[in-house]
Amino acid sequence: MSFSYQHKLISIEAALAKIKTDDCVISALGAAEPNGLLEQLHTIAPRVSNVSVSTVLPMRPFKWFMEPAMKGHFEHHAWFYSAGIRKAAIDAHTCTYVPNHLHAAGLDRIIYRKPNVFLGSCTPPDRFGYVSLSLSVTYERELMEAADVVILEINDQMPYTWGDTIVHLDEIDFVVENSRKLFELPIPETEERDRLIGGYIAEHIEDGSTIQLGIGGIPNAVTAELMHKKNLAIHTEMLTDGMVDMYEAGVIGRGAHSFGKKLLTGKMVATFALGSQKLYDFLDRNPALALMRGSWVNDPYVIAHNKKQISINTTLEVDLTGQVCSESIGHRQFSGTGGQSDTAIGAQMSEGGKSFIALYSTVDVKQADGTRKTISKIAPMLTPGAAVTLHRANVDFVVTEFGAVRLRGAPVNERARRLISIAHPDFRAELQDKAEELGFI
Ligand code: COA
Repeated sequence: MSFSYQHKLISIEAALAKIKTDDCVISALGAAEPNGLLEQLHTIAPRVSNVSVSTVLPMRPFKWFMEPAMKGHFEHHAWFYSAGIRKAAIDAHTCTYVPNHLHAAGLDRIIYRKPNVFLGSCTPPDRFGYVSLSLSVTYERELMEAADVVILEINDQMPYTWGDTIVHLDEIDFVVENSRKLFELPIPETEERDRLIGGYIAEHIEDGSTIQLGIGGIPNAVTAELMHKKNLAIHTEMLTDGMVDMYEAGVIGRGAHSFGKKLLTGKMVATFALGSQKLYDFLDRNPALALMRGSWVNDPYVIAHNKKQISINTTLEVDLTGQVCSESIGHRQFSGTGGQSDTAIGAQMSEGGKSFIALYSTVDVKQADGTRKTISKIAPMLTPGAAVTLHRANVDFVVTEFGAVRLRGAPVNERARRLISIAHPDFRAELQDKAEELGFI
């Protein structure tokens, strides 16, 4: 027996006809974005103006924000920039950033403005009429509940995941169908300096710890260095390929054997998943996994219930007092705050918990004249305009390929000394001089 949803099924064109001038539209996050709907959204531009569309980490460069002609018709309210948005923000002036902490993103949005239309994606229904929102419930449930009209794109290639993802079709106003291969995130090559950073972090991780890994190349590479640990557990914002490797290697404790994890013990807990088809296949009807609302998963007070919670995130720039900028290059928005602050603070509130900010000591940046220059990512001061993603009072360990130092509780002079000790040797003298000049040391 299959569940019939013919009475809710409409075409993509008819679905987009529900959007009106001045509407506030919300889209599901990352690989859960409704591709068919977002790909056609620009077609309604001739009849609408001033429609705000909120996204987090959109995976594809859709015409409704990439094309300059869309300005005035759509305004992209992006909670986390991706490559297309970075380009469109400069070239098309169609995008603006929404500052928030991920655990509060849904609620904050409702306080700012009630959503009119929610566009998401889901699996086909089971025989009882329940669909799975599949790859993200970061804010989707709250905003679906608040929206006037909910439209889901049924994609039979999405994994059926368990947790807060399960919704009955009775709660949905309309569905469209679009069978579509899921977006896959390329896995970056692991370099020697990743292995060094992973090794320094692994030294501080005890068996039985609960792990969160952030977005970016370094956190993913760290998983390779955790393979000799025992009975680790996962309570994370983003579920990644590296965590599947850990599960398959037996590093993740099964059932009750994740000793420190007090919440949904025995399950890998996340709020969204982004990675390769291997990850998506692993998720499908896997009872070892629970995808739960981001307002719960990422709430620092919730995270703190786990013992030995470990948070591992990466950043773009750290200053000598410990201020962390992970979301902008100077004033230019690069990504977003996401859950960096949520997870770092939650881990430090947990009994025996630790938070790590991992970064390479240097980066080659492109100059205005097209040449490249190597700079230190540990800087005397943040670049003017840089957004502080993690307050210096919330920074615990900072790790580069030259070592790990702990800043938690340390005064500014000691912070500066410790950070200089893990900067690239070529920059240490210059950083020391600047620290003295600024009166940090
Ligand atoms: N100054 C100027 N440019 C810099 C820089 C600096 N100090 N540091 C890095 N860059 C440039 C790099 O050259 C690279 O440029 P490119 O895109 O032209 O190659 C770009 O910034 C990205 O750097 P990279 O180190 O490759 O980034 P990443 O993909 O590993 O992601 C963050 C790193 C910090 C952007 C990402 O982790 C993030 O957005 N974090 C905030 C949210 C978060 O941590 N959430 C956690 C819960 S999931």
